[in-house]
Amino acid sequence: MFSVTRVRFMKINMNLLPAADQKQKPANVLKVPFGTEFTDHMFSMKYVEGSWNDAIIHPYGNLSLSPAALCLHYGQGIFEGMKAYRRGDRILLFRPDRNFIRFNESATRMVMPEIDVDFAITALKHLLKVERDWVPEVQGSSLYIRPTMIGTQAKLGVKPSDEYLFYIILSPVGPYFKEGFSPVKIFISSEYVRAVRGGVGAAKTMGNYAASLYAGTKAAEVGYSQVLWLDALERKYLEEVGTMNIFVKFDDELVTPPLSGSILSGITRDSVLTLTRDMGLTVKERQVSIDEVIEGLQSGKVVEMFGCGTAAIIAPVGQLWYNNNNYTVSDGNTGKLTQHLFDELTGIQSGDLNDPYGWVVEVE
Ligand code: PLP
Ligand code: COI
Repeated sequence: MFSVTRVRFMKINMNLLPAADQKQKPANVLKVPFGTEFTDHMFSMKYVEGSWNDAIIHPYGNLSLSPAALCLHYGQGIFEGMKAYRRGDRILLFRPDRNFIRFNESATRMVMPEIDVDFAITALKHLLKVERDWVPEVQGSSLYIRPTMIGTQAKLGVKPSDEYLFYIILSPVGPYFKEGFSPVKIFISSEYVRAVRGGVGAAKTMGNYAASLYAGTKAAEVGYSQVLWLDALERKYLEEVGTMNIFVKFDDELVTPPLSGSILSGITRDSVLTLTRDMGLTVKERQVSIDEVIEGLQSGKVVEMFGCGTAAIIAPVGQLWYNNNNYTVSDGNTGKLTQHLFDELTGIQSGDLNDPYGWVVEVE
């Protein structure tokens, strides 16, 4: 196991591209498929002989790795997803400390070194200052931020790497789903599972996403954009959706599955819990069985369902596929609470609404 490495005061070197060599920014970011354009620069640092070194902001470009790098064979890699928003000249981040704290939790689970949270936020702010012109302003857009760490030691034996690369890349984005903010179609998998308690489902590690691809592809073949996973043991209780946590509204009660150890502890989930509790709603983190959801859809007790995550924001669920049946949620429309939470959350994130929670951090 590794301990926190104090790199708070490490110098950040700069190797910046001349303006003439910088890329053209997308004319309409809302039309760019999610995560396919990258900015001119990235941040990186290396972990060698027990400490982080070589912090630098440099041109975005390919990595040079040994083909025997441990991450390529045994998946020792973790990442985060966060966003920067523009309000006029102001660049805003949303709860960035939570992302880097979770990054360190993922690191610990994957036997990787932690990073210093304050230093990581400082490095990110420096990078955003360099790339500030890349933060889009149009409503529904943002600059997606992807901190990543991989084990880079060249070795074929299965063991934790001795060497790591940490980097941050940036991508101007619009909506995550091709549907935009329209209700999404979700496929419930009773055949395949994503993660099991005791495994690595709560870590934001690469293999969890690889494990989701097969069922995701099957779902896409029949026209569904995401998979909703059930628990791996009983295949009975809701876990989470591909890139989102899930909420179900039964009459006046809002419910989300508890953090059981096999799902990601979403920062959007936590923000939704705070917002809805402060609205005076009855909110519970409890197990929800798929039977309870299906019965509730048939009886009218389930009035809304939505997924939430950084990339997807708040995504209304319009249809559910389960056991060869398709069920419509909220008549295929966006529910009132779902719409309200979308407006509230995006309003706070973009600086349009007051932030009573101190969630928004300005890049100065
Ligand atoms: N669950 C999974 C598997 C995810 O990839 C994400 C996205 O990061 C989430 C949930 C939502 O987490 P957050 O709200 O922190 O983005
Ligand atoms: C996020 O919401 O930031 C995610 O990480 C989801 C995804 C694009 C993997």
